[in-house]
Formats: sequence, structure tokens, C-alpha cells
Amino acid sequence: MLLALLLTLANIAMPQAARADVLIVHSNDVLGEIEPCGCRSNPLGGMARKANLLKKLEQANEVVQLDAGDLLFPSDSLPPMLEKQSELQAKFLLSAMDQLHHDAIVPGEKDFALGWKTFQKLRAGSKAKFLAANLYLSKSNSPALAPYAIFERKNRDGKKIRVAVIGLVGEDLKWPKELKASPAIAAAKREVHALEGKADLIVALTHEGLEADRALAQAVPGIDIIIGGHTQSFLQNPLVIGKARIYQSSFRNQYIGVLPAKKPFNGEGYELVGLDPAYDSPAEKPSQTDRLVQEFKAGIAKFNLTEVAQQTETKAPQAPAGSAPKFQTWVRCAECHTEQFDFWRRTPHARALSPLVKAGQSANKECLSCHTVGLGDPEGLLDISKLATLRGDKAISTPELNTFLESMTQAKSMDAPVTLTPLDPPMPLNQAISRIDRSWTPVQCENCHKGSQDHPFSNPMSEKVVVTTCVQCHTAERAPAWYTKDGKLDEKIAAEKKAKIACPASN
Ligand code: HEC
Ligand code: HEC
Ligand code: HEC
Ligand code: HEC
Repeated sequence: MLLALLLTLANIAMPQAARADVLIVHSNDVLGEIEPCGCRSNPLGGMARKANLLKKLEQANEVVQLDAGDLLFPSDSLPPMLEKQSELQAKFLLSAMDQLHHDAIVPGEKDFALGWKTFQKLRAGSKAKFLAANLYLSKSNSPALAPYAIFERKNRDGKKIRVAVIGLVGEDLKWPKELKASPAIAAAKREVHALEGKADLIVALTHEGLEADRALAQAVPGIDIIIGGHTQSFLQNPLVIGKARIYQSSFRNQYIGVLPAKKPFNGEGYELVGLDPAYDSPAEKPSQTDRLVQEFKAGIAKFNLTEVAQQTETKAPQAPAGSAPKFQTWVRCAECHTEQFDFWRRTPHARALSPLVKAGQSANKECLSCHTVGLGDPEGLLDISKLATLRGDKAISTPELNTFLESMTQAKSMDAPVTLTPLDPPMPLNQAISRIDRSWTPVQCENCHKGSQDHPFSNPMSEKVVVTTCVQCHTAERAPAWYTKDGKLDEKIAAEKKAKIACPASN
């Protein structure tokens, strides 16, 4: 009796993972994210944390690492301004995954955002296997990628276990024109048949979404496990359909699925692990992946700040000579609307450069797109090495600008002394503002009050500010506090935020 009790306790205490033959570690819809998403107080995710999780798991088991697509890019059509930066970011992401010995990936439609050629280039630079059993080259009808791969691992007793992974893309793939997808169920049936006797476990790695995964489980009984993506579903427990179990782990590497697998497969011990700060390396002991992330930030900054990038971009059309500039930026508005300026400079928007500088991301165009005004507009901010320009020839660097903006937000009054550049003596805030020609950062007047061209001369700017403007930046990802659990904007919270941030009326 006592012995039985002890045995039960031992069973409970022993982590399920330790008794598995192999651990399947999975992610989906990473969307190019390398770092924890920077916009919350406690953001989850990041490759450096994933590396530390894997180190821990690999102490007890051999691992097969899978990703279910929409890995490389945040959307299926990137703004031209972000194309080159995103390609570089995808390259870094794949190198980080190589460092972790990632095994297989099925592409999602967003992975083709920069076309088939760029996808092929990125794939060639990666050690991971890209799989798809239902993806063909449109011209030749030949398979675009390998249909499946078999990964051999050893369990704790040294016994061999073979995990076969079949890739399946979404059937309604609409681009790039070089590719076409065929029905997934037929392809899966064919490959399961081909794998007979060659594998101990069969995994379908799909980028079709949850509904199609259900249909797949029903139609193809030979599949043990479906690891899915596309719908960004947060499944703490798998969907069980017949013998198959369907898994998905939300998005952006915020949660990683850890699935102990053995034959016969019973799904025990599954866990979605949140990549929280507990997985950070100690600050004094950065890991190899931490160092790669630092390299990535420096690489993006260097790339965006190089002349090559600037030259290609300054070819864009400029405002016709003699016409009013499209953007005045806050320094000009401040000269006439002192009261509203004095209010705005104390709001969080006026501090929006500082978190980017702190994160070493003030030259990352993706971040800048919501922490500045006019980025990428032909008449707006093109050269991000000049987030502000002084009148005359003098330049102001980003760190100097940040110091000035911080002193602006803290100034006791409009006459309080602030430091514009280290070479100038401190001067009254009013005077400092008049020395600046344009300042594209922080989040400012023209982010909310749109269309200021020719104002005040032939344009009264009487249009009200609307919440649809706010949510261009306050997205569900970046400002989750504004949204309900199912991702809908909470109108009441948005209205409260707007009331809080609205400039006072003029007297
Ligand atoms: C040269 C001075 C001047 C500058 C510069 C200026 N404004 Fe104005 N602004 C005015 C005047 C004067 C009015 C009142 C116009 C009217 O009622 O026809 C006004 C009106 C407005 C209104 C409408 C207020 C209301 O009562 O409905 C808004 C909003 C506004 N300005 C925003 C801005 C922003 C944003 C900028 C910078 C892009 C800016 N202004 C730059 C002088 C200026
Ligand atoms: C889609 C628009 C958008 C993008 C892109 C964006 N941000 Fe933000 N960011 C926001 C918004 C909106 C907030 C305010 C969120 C809140 O407090 O609810 C914010 C807040 C932050 C904060 C917290 C500020 C504070 O004072 O606590 C940090 C840090 C930050 N962002 C960093 C970044 C970095 C780094 C990037 C690029 C990797 C980035 N952001 C890209 C919109 C964006
Ligand atoms: C986060 C968005 C936001 C920013 C940034 C912002 N404003 Fe406003 N502002 C508002 C809102 C909201 C109102 C209230 C009126 C409305 O709903 O349109 C308002 C009102 C005003 C008014 C009209 C007041 C009146 O008499 O009715 C002026 C003028 C103005 N803002 C100027 C500025 C200037 C100048 C800046 C930059 C220094 C600025 N705003 C920055 C959102 C913003
Ligand atoms: C161009 C992008 C952008 C737009 C447009 C924008 N915001 Fe923001 N907002 C930000 C960023 C970035 C921050 C974070 C600033 C920081 O703390 O460094 C922020 C922070 C805030 C905050 C403080 C954090 C919070 O959620 O309590 C409020 C409130 C806010 N914004 C309200 C608004 C409202 C209301 C509007 C529309 C009228 C608006 N914002 C439009 C980018 C934007």
C-alpha cells in the first residue's frame, strides 16, 4: 500500500518529458520576430530565450524542432521602405535558428512576401529543411520543395525513433506567380502511403489554419500529429480528432509548444511554454544567440544608415519647389499653438524616441514607423540618420536629439533652460525650438492632426481627430491593453485614452 503510494508520487514528480522518446518543439507565425516584441512592459518571445529553453530541454531528451510557417516576414505585402530591412532581418532569424539546430519549416503565404527568388535565396542560406508536399512550380509542374523529411533520434534507452514530417501549404496560395498549391489531403494521403514502414511517428507540418487541419485529421488516418499555423491559434490543449492531435502555439515565438512524443503516441505531457524573462541569460553572461541579436540590431542600423540605402531612397520625388511642405513637424506647430504644445510635450507621445534609443533600435525602420511622423513619405522622413535637422547647416545626432527631447518633456516652463547640442550653451525651450528646422520624431501633432499642408493660410485644420488614426499605431500587438481578449478594439477604453491625450481647446 505504502509502496503503491510512493510509486504514484514518483510518477507525478517525474516530468512527462523525461519519459518521452523524443521532444517535438514547435512554433508558428513568428512573423520575422527576433526579439521579444518591444511594446509591452513585459513582452514575451525572442530567439535568445528560445535558445535557453532548448538548452534546458536538450539536457534530458533529443529534440525535433518544427516551424509551421509565416516565419520570415510580418505581412504578405511589405511597404517598399521595409523590404530590404525585412530581408536582412529574415536572414538573421534563419541564422539564429541554425544556431539552435532547427530542423524543418513549412512555408506560409507571408514567407513569399518578397517573391520566390528572395525566398530561394534565404532558403539556400539556411540549414533547416523547407518542406511542402503540395507545392509546385507553375511552369514545369515539378515539386517546389521536398515533400517530407525523416528525422532519426535516440530515446533515453538508446533506441532509434524515426519522426517523419510532411509539409503542407495552404491550398489557396495566390502568389508568387511561380508557384501553385494542390489539394493538401490528396498530397498527405500520397505521402503517408509512401512513408509506410519508414517511420515510427508521422507529423503533418501545415500552414493551412485550424479548420483545414481538422479536415486533414478526419481524412488521413495515418497522421499521428498535426502541427499547424496560419490562424495563430493559442491551443493550450490539442484538438483530438480520431487518432490524431492538432497543435498550434499562438504567434511571434511568444509561446513554444513542447510535445513529448513516443510510439504509440498518446499526447501526454504537452506544454505551451511562455518565453518570459525567466528565460533570459544573466546580463553578465550573454549567450551566443544574445550576441547574434546584438549583431542583428547593429546590422540593421548600419544598413539603414549607409549611403547606399540613402541614395536609392532620395531618388524619390520631392515636393515641387516653392510649394508649402507637406509636413511642418511639431517645431512649427509649437510656435503658434503654445498651449497645445505645452500639453503635448508632457504626454507619453513626446517621449517616444527614448525607448527606441534604449533598445538600440533607433535606426530600425519598422520601429520608427510608429515612433515618428512621415517615415517613407517622399516628402517626409527619408534619411533616418537625420531624425531632426537644425536651421542652417548644423546637424543634430540621434543621441543629442534624444537628450534634448528628454529635457523638453521635463522642462518646468517654456522658458526653462534646455540643451540642444553639446556645443551650444543651455537656452530657453522656446529658443531651442526656433533653432530646429524639422523634427520627425517623436509621435506628434501631424500623426493625429492629418493634412496640415498650407495651414493656417488656406487650411483651417478643423477636422476632428479620430480613433481610426490612433489604432494605426495602437494595434492589438503593440497596445494589447486597448483590446478585448478576442482581439477587438475596446471602444470604451479607446475613448478614455483619447480624452486623456486630447489637447486642450484654445482660450
Ligand atoms: C503660423 C501660425 C500657425 C501654425 C504654424 C500652425 N497653426 Fe494651427 N492654427 C493657426 C490659427 C490662426 C488657427 C485658427 C484658424 C481658423 O480658425 O481658421 C489654427 C487652427 C488649428 C486647428 C483647429 C483648431 C480649431 O479651433 O478647430 C488645429 C487642429 C491646428 N491649428 C493644428 C495645427 C498643427 C498640427 C500645426 C502644425 C502642423 C499648426 N496648427 C500650425 C495658426 C497656426
Ligand atoms: C505598429 C506600431 C508600432 C511599431 C511598429 C513599434 N511600436 Fe513601440 N509602441 C507602439 C505603441 C502604440 C506603444 C504604446 C503601447 C502602450 O503603452 O500601450 C509603443 C510602446 C513601446 C515601448 C514602451 C514605451 C514605454 O515608455 O514603456 C517600447 C520599449 C517600444 N514601443 C519599442 C519598440 C521597438 C523596439 C520597436 C521595433 C522593434 C517598436 N516599438 C515598434 C507602437 C509601435
Ligand atoms: C495623440 C493625438 C494628438 C497629438 C499628438 C496632438 N493632438 Fe492636438 N488634439 C488631439 C485631440 C484628440 C484634440 C481634441 C479635438 C479633436 O478631437 O479633434 C486635439 C485638439 C487640438 C487643437 C484644437 C483645440 C481647439 O481649440 O479645439 C489644436 C490647435 C491642437 N490639438 C494642436 C496640436 C498641436 C500643435 C500638437 C503638437 C504639438 C498636437 N495638437 C498634438 C489629438 C492630438
Ligand atoms: C504614430 C503612431 C501613434 C499614433 C497615431 C498614436 N499613438 Fe499613442 N502612442 C504611440 C507610441 C509609440 C506610444 C509610446 C510612447 C512611449 O511611451 O514612449 C504611445 C503612447 C500612448 C499612450 C500612453 C500609453 C497608454 O496606452 O496609456 C496613450 C494614452 C496614447 N498613446 C493614446 C493615443 C491616442 C488616443 C491616439 C489617437 C488620438 C494615439 N495615441 C495615436 C504611438 C502612436
